Amino acid sequence: MSNCGKTLWMPRCWLCLLMLCLVLGTMTYIFKSSSIEVSRPVNIWRTTAMLSQENRTTAVGSQANKVSTSQYFVAYPHQYHFMLDEPHRCLQEKPFVILMIPVAPSNREAREMIRTTWGKETTVLGQVVSHYFLLGVSKDRDVHLEEEVLEESRTHQDILQSNFVDSYNNLTIKTMVMFEWLSSRCPNASYAMKIDSDIFLNVQKLVGMLLKAPQHLYMTGRLERDAAVLRDRTSKWFLPLSVFPESTYPIYPRGLGYVFSLDLPQKIMEASSHIKALFIEDVYVGLCMRHLGITLTDPPHNALFMDTMPYSSPSNCYWTTVITTILDSSKQLLDVWGMYQSQRQSGC
Ligand SMILES: *[C@@H]1O[C@H](CO)[C@@H](O)[C@H](O)[C@H]1NC(C)=O
Ligand SMILES: *[C@@H]1O[C@H](CO)[C@@H](O)[C@H](O)[C@H]1NC(C)=O
Ligand SMILES: *[C@@H]1O[C@H](CO)[C@@H](O)[C@H](O)[C@H]1NC(C)=O
Repeated sequence: MSNCGKTLWMPRCWLCLLMLCLVLGTMTYIFKSSSIEVSRPVNIWRTTAMLSQENRTTAVGSQANKVSTSQYFVAYPHQYHFMLDEPHRCLQEKPFVILMIPVAPSNREAREMIRTTWGKETTVLGQVVSHYFLLGVSKDRDVHLEEEVLEESRTHQDILQSNFVDSYNNLTIKTMVMFEWLSSRCPNASYAMKIDSDIFLNVQKLVGMLLKAPQHLYMTGRLERDAAVLRDRTSKWFLPLSVFPESTYPIYPRGLGYVFSLDLPQKIMEASSHIKALFIEDVYVGLCMRHLGITLTDPPHNALFMDTMPYSSPSNCYWTTVITTILDSSKQLLDVWGMYQSQRQSGC
């Protein structure tokens, strides 16, 4: 390059530049045309999926808005694979109920809290209970973090990590790979529960309920009926009419914690090939259940799946009577677990 300063070399440098431009131009062209190739099947799939679900008026509208509506859907079905897996644990342990906990890779603190509280309960009322954490990969693919997660997985053997980017908007992907994992790795377990990491869980009460529950086509939790679709653009869960024309959602189990029999994962996966994967994961599970024509079951009592902490001082036996309660943060779990233990010991 330094030769370019000399007049003698000028013509050759121009030639070099010209060649460089030609090469860059060709590369850009190839790259562009290949990305068109890649996006084409996706668009075809979207359009046919829309036509099969919505009526023509809606479908035409959606096609015009194709670019602006894609943000409400996630890439599913898709061949994701588990980078960290526990392929044999479930077959060996034969659990009665499996607790599946979605959590971000970086949230090691929440995982530790759970392992020392409700995740520690592995035999309850004579039934085997096991738990797994469900992770995607960190957005920036932080190598240090991935190593820590690997180490943690070696120590505890309770981490399942799939190769999609872990983000709020991808929760539907996480739930669907959870169903995939359960149907392939735990064919003979009875029940599973999807439960968020910032939640108190009374495992004893859960197992007690399940011992009396239907064994097939069963899903329960905090059921949401006739919930309005949010049309306020500033809402986290806003959906435009072109994406979801109905004014209310079909009945769905609130995502904080729902329980199901293990004949359902395979069926929900089948349904998901007919229903475009909406980013709101619990609503999407409800849509799949509606497609399957399977009715959700109310829990035996209304006060089992609680969504807020009790306001004032709760009754002496509060923690022994509920199955779940959402906490303000997972840091609270240790305190709450202590209260639960002492309520149990005091004969609640
Ligand atoms: C078709 O979509 C329009 C607009 O969302 C709606 O008003 C109409 O009721 C739909 N028709 C049928 C048959 O679903
Ligand atoms: C997941 O979410 C992020 C950001 O929300 C996005 O960039 C990414 O493409 C999504 N999908 C997958 C399959 O990782
Ligand atoms: C699972 O259950 C089926 C039928 O109940 C049985 O045939 C099969 O051997 C079981 N598999 C395992 C791995 O336990």
